[in-house]
Amino acid sequence: MKKIVVLTGAGISAESGVQTFRDANGLWQNHNIMEVASPQGWARNKELVLEFYNQRRRQLHEVHPNEGHKALVDLEKYYDTVIITQNVDDLHERAGSKNIIHLHGELFKVRSTGDENLVYEWKKDLNIGDKCEKGYQLRPHIVWFGEQVPMISVAAKEVMDADIMIIVGTSMQVYPAAGLVSYLMQGTPIYYIDPNPHISYELQRSANLEVLSEKASTGVRKVVNKLTG
Ligand code: OAD
Repeated sequence: MKKIVVLTGAGISAESGVQTFRDANGLWQNHNIMEVASPQGWARNKELVLEFYNQRRRQLHEVHPNEGHKALVDLEKYYDTVIITQNVDDLHERAGSKNIIHLHGELFKVRSTGDENLVYEWKKDLNIGDKCEKGYQLRPHIVWFGEQVPMISVAAKEVMDADIMIIVGTSMQVYPAAGLVSYLMQGTPIYYIDPNPHISYELQRSANLEVLSEKASTGVRKVVNKLTG
């Protein structure tokens, strides 16, 4: 079986009603990244950070996977498929994809601020005073700006032996995620689906790039149909 690695970003969940970060009216236009998504912001104002992620978590209960997430599931019948997502939602899981690596954490999980190995499922609001079993405050299980991306080496290993890569709905501006492309073997086909594609340095160097400038709901289906005959 050939192997497909799919890298997804906020754009694949846009048609489900989840806001992206850098589009017009995206989350980073209305919120200061360093205030709500950095260790410094957490140190300064925990309530603000918790409320930002509580809003995201509440919203996640109200949205559903769209045609883009669903089309990717069909790949699994034909390919060894790995989804590397920058998204913290669980829409790939709910669509039915099996092999998913969350690079930037998960909204429905929280972890201890005193022992990073203590990670818990968490679907409700997280508040000051919610503590782990060792008595430390819990925080969102999200990779904030300036923090390590623990899953990047696992993801890079998957990319190294991919036969095909599909990229969906990401502005390719956040590293190390955007740099994963450079682990592909030279000449590996890349399909990049995004209505407003950003051809990063790594993508410019690809000898085999096909760009579909369209939404995930239609673009992913086209690529999946092509690859599954
Ligand atoms: P961005 O908001 O940077 O980019 C979203 C991309 O989705 C853009 O390229 C849009 O053109 C595209 N897009 C919008 N609507 C779409 C649709 N219907 N179908 C397909 N694509 C669409 O989001 P990311 O690239 O995911 O990290 O951002 C990367 C990281 O930056 C995020 O994981 C987040 C953020 O800060 C953390 O919070 C740790």
